[in-house]
Formats: sequence, C-alpha cells, structure tokens
Amino acid sequence: MIVREFFAKHWPIYLLGIILLIVTDLLALLIPWATGRAVDSIGLSNGEVGQSILLIGAVAIAMAILRYLYRECIMGTTRRLEHHLRNKIFHHSLFVPISVYDEAGPGKIMALTVNDVTSVRVAVGLGIMLLVDAGIMGLASFAVMFRSIDPMLTILSVAPLPFVFVGTAWLGRIVHIRFRKVQEQFGELTEFAQELFGGVKIVKAFGVESQFSKRFAAVNRENMAANLSLANIQAVYIPVTHVAPLFCYAIALFAGGRMIIQDSLTVGELTAFTGYLGLIIWPVMGLGYLINTVQRGRASYRRIEDFLSNPADELEKMEYSCSAATYPLTGAIEINNLTFQYPQAATASLNDVSIRIPAGATVGIVGRTGSGKTTLLRILLRLYPVPDGTVLIDGVDLNQHDFLRLRGDIGYVPQEAALFSMTVADNIAFGGDYQRGQIEQAADQAVVQTDIDARTEGFGTMLGEKGLRLSGGQRQRVAIARALIRNPRILLLDDVFASLDYRTQNLLVDNLREMEAGRTTLIVSQRVAAVEHAKFILVFEAGQICEQGTHQELIARRGLYYKLYEQQLALGDGA
Ligand SMILES: Nc1ncnc2c1ncn2[C@@H]1O[C@H](COP(=O)(O)OP(=O)(O)O)[C@@H](O)[C@H]1O
Ligand SMILES: [Mg+2]
Repeated sequence: MIVREFFAKHWPIYLLGIILLIVTDLLALLIPWATGRAVDSIGLSNGEVGQSILLIGAVAIAMAILRYLYRECIMGTTRRLEHHLRNKIFHHSLFVPISVYDEAGPGKIMALTVNDVTSVRVAVGLGIMLLVDAGIMGLASFAVMFRSIDPMLTILSVAPLPFVFVGTAWLGRIVHIRFRKVQEQFGELTEFAQELFGGVKIVKAFGVESQFSKRFAAVNRENMAANLSLANIQAVYIPVTHVAPLFCYAIALFAGGRMIIQDSLTVGELTAFTGYLGLIIWPVMGLGYLINTVQRGRASYRRIEDFLSNPADELEKMEYSCSAATYPLTGAIEINNLTFQYPQAATASLNDVSIRIPAGATVGIVGRTGSGKTTLLRILLRLYPVPDGTVLIDGVDLNQHDFLRLRGDIGYVPQEAALFSMTVADNIAFGGDYQRGQIEQAADQAVVQTDIDARTEGFGTMLGEKGLRLSGGQRQRVAIARALIRNPRILLLDDVFASLDYRTQNLLVDNLREMEAGRTTLIVSQRVAAVEHAKFILVFEAGQICEQGTHQELIARRGLYYKLYEQQLALGDGA
C-alpha cells in the first residue's frame, strides 16, 4: 500500500534505472561474442581482431557509464523510499494511541524505523537488480549459447546450476538467520552498555562494579559467539558457492574441447561460450541469495504495514472542526461513573469515579501510589479512550473535543518530568512562539529562575539526553515552567512536589495560588501542605474516591487523609 503510494510518484526514475540496467545487460552479451570472434580471427585477419578489441573497449566504457547511471536511478529511488518510510513511521508513531506503545514497547517501534526500513530498501533495490540480471542477462546468454553455439554443450554445462541455486538459497538462509542473531546480540550489548553508562552512579554507589563487569562479559561473549557462528557459515558459503560454478567451466572445457578436436566447434566459439557461462552463473547465484533478501524485506514490510494500520484515531479527531466546545476553555470538569481499565491490565485502575469540578477551582488529589491519580490526569488529556458521556469538559463530551485545542488549553506536568536534549529556553518554550521575557517569567513562577541563572550559559544551557544535567527537582520545575508558559485553562500537576525541598515547595505553592484565578488546577501530591489550600480535596484509594471535602472537613473526619496529615506532622513536614 504505502510502497505503491510511493511508486505512484517516483516510478519514472526507477523505470529509467531498470531500462538502463537492461541495456547494460544486453551490452554485456556483446563481450563474449567479440572475444570469440577475435580468437577465431587470430592469425587470419588482423583487422577483425583489432575491430573486436575496439568493440570490447567501447562496450566496457559504455557499460561503466550505464552502470553508474542505473545505480543512481535505482539506488537513489530506494534511498528516497527509505526516507519516505521512516518519515511515515515516525509521523504515525506520534499519532497512534498511547496504548500501541504499552503493547509493543518503544523498542519494537525503534526497530521498525531502523532495521525493517533497511531490509525493505535492500529488497527493493538489490532485489530488482538481481532479478533483471537473471531475467535478461541469464536468459539471453542461455538463448545465445543454446541456439548459436551448441544445444547439447549448453545443457551439459548448465546442469550444475540448479544445485548452485539451491545451495546458495539454503546457505543464504542460514547466513540470514545468523546475521539476525548477530544484530539481536549487538542490540542487547548496546542496550546493556547504554543502561550502565546511564546508571553508572548507582552502580558505583552500590559497589557492584564487578558484577556488572561479569554480566557485560557474558553479554559480550554471546555477541562474539553469534559473530563467530556467522563467520563460520560465511566461511562455508563463500568457497562452496565459488567452487560450484567451476564445475560448469570444467564440463564446458571438457566437452567443448572434445568438440574442437572433432571439428564441430571453433576455439573462438568455446571462448565465447565460457564468457556467456559466466554471465549466467552470477545471476543464478544472485537469485539464490535474492530469495532470502526478498523474504526478509517482505516480512519487514508486513511489520511496517501492521504498525501503520493502527488507526491514528487522534489524527482523525483532530480534524474534528465542529467541536461543540469553545476555546479557550473555562475549565469545568465533570466525570460520571467512570470505570477505566488499561488495555493490557487485568483489573480496572479507576472504579466508578464521579467528580464535579467547577471552572477555576483548585482541587487536591491525594492517595497511595497505584491508587489511580496519574490515570485520572491521563484521561483528562484523553491519552486513552473513554466511553461517551463519562467525561465532560466545559459540559462537552471529551470525545467531542478538538484534541489539539483541548490539549493546547491544558498544562500538564507529568510525574517523571521528561525533558529533551535542547536548551533550557527551548525546553520551556517547547515549540511555542514565546519571547525571552515570557520564558523568564515562566521560569520565575516555577521557582527555577535562580537555578538557571547559576549556570554559566543560563537559559542557553544544553540539557543533554533526557535533561540529565539537572537535578530531579530542577527538571521538575522546568517542566512546570513549560506548562505555565502556555497559560493553560486547566493545570494538571502530577506529584511535582515529591522531589522539592519544603522551602521551594512553599514558594511554588504560593506562586500557583497567585496565578490560580481563572484556572482549574488539579494538584496530585502526597504532601498535605501542597493541597491544604485547595477548594476541596479528593482522596483516592484503589481506583476509587474514598473521601472528599475541604482540608478542615477531612481532618474532622479522621480518615485516611487525617492519617496522612498526622504522619507528616510527626515528621515535621510542611512546617
Ligand atoms: N500503562 C499502564 N498499563 C497498565 N496498567 C497501568 C498503566 N499505568 C498504570 N497502570 C496501573 O493502574 C493503576 C493506577 O496507576 P496510577 O494511576 O499510575 O497510580 P498513582 O498515580 O495513583 O500512583 C496501578 O495499579 C498501575 O499498575
Ligand atoms: Mg502517579
């Protein structure tokens, strides 16, 4: 499907490449013929020998030029196809539902964009070249040998070729299997090393260097074993496939030689014959190999198509222009008897939850880990589908919203602040068109300004992979600035205080309170101090709301919330 779509646009160059390839193959047929003619003319006609040599030279030059041109056309097209497929997969990967990642894991999608795309390219490029070589050069040589030299000699000489074909196909298959194993092992090795280098501080802190060293040695040994087993089969493959054709030549020389003695063949004809034989042998060996290449390409292509067939539901919905809501939102949230289960999960993560949050309210959400707090926030972002009627924002069903605009009005700070390898300023602006002043203001509101100023390069500091050059709390606050700068109507803070000291937390809470006018704010936190000012507080337990009310009411209730409060008082928290 997607390949067809690509070739609908790019076929002319590809076809030109194939035509040039066919011409090259046909020209190649001239060389054995001219060689044979020259041999037969030696000592008889110097003129003919000279002509033949000139012809061979001219054909060789023409073939060299043509070969360059067809490779440009065919390889160029396949490189474009590769580029097109990668873009397509990447684009799609941004728009498939999150559940596709839950299912496949990011690693599989990574392999799709790297390995599978490559094997499709190789199949489409190398595949067509071998096919044309076999189809044109191989068959034409056979026809010439059979019809204008000697049918019997032809049949005898090509008799070993079926075995060559089967042999290359069989050995080629083993090579491919072992090659894949090498790739897998190498993937494991890089993953291991990457994980170690990322977590080297922990390894050192726990003093487990030698264990890791041993584990690496084991992985590395497997890697070597895979490579050796590949080298072994290659060591067999090359001699076997190169020796087998020699049988063809031996038969040709033996039978042809006898015919020369009997005067039924000239030396020149036999010379030409062996030349043609060479033109057949290569494509036959290539075809054996091609079968595997094409099989691999097909399997990869099927995986790509499978992935692309995941409906990008969000894409469709984004074009939903008749959304009944108006933007910017006012931020009223209503949840009615929502039960939600992750596609892969055995039990529901939210159980019959009903909430009514008026626009502009600040709501605290507390509860043990695993009680469903993060899930609730994800649902509000519509990262997972929910039944109609269960979630309403501004009185409009979540499923009827224009997602892009909905999310544009929501500021989300995830539990694990994910930053990107860009500058601090770019991480805060995050694709938005903001002035430096706005970026600084957001950083100030998120109480991260002084941390950034302390760096020599300030807002221009590059953050490195995953923002690892910042502390956890700093990352968290940069993520808060990233949410605040968009001036969202709904602000979702998922446990953002966990890695902050109390002074910073209190500064941040004060800032949020100042800005909370006209904004619905949901604060998920384990810390009572971060939510006690909220208009009301929801206490989650095992996917359900087990208590709700104001801080005062919940304290008076002496339930779960009170227990949490007491514990934190005892620890001197929040003071
Ligand atoms: N992507 C997921 N797939 C399957 N189950 C999940 C996923 N994310 C969370 N869960 C499960 O849902 C429940 C609620 O998780 P979560 O909302 O993250 O809790 P909290 O934020 O309160 O700690 C947990 O039991 C968790 O194991
Ligand atoms: Mg959570």
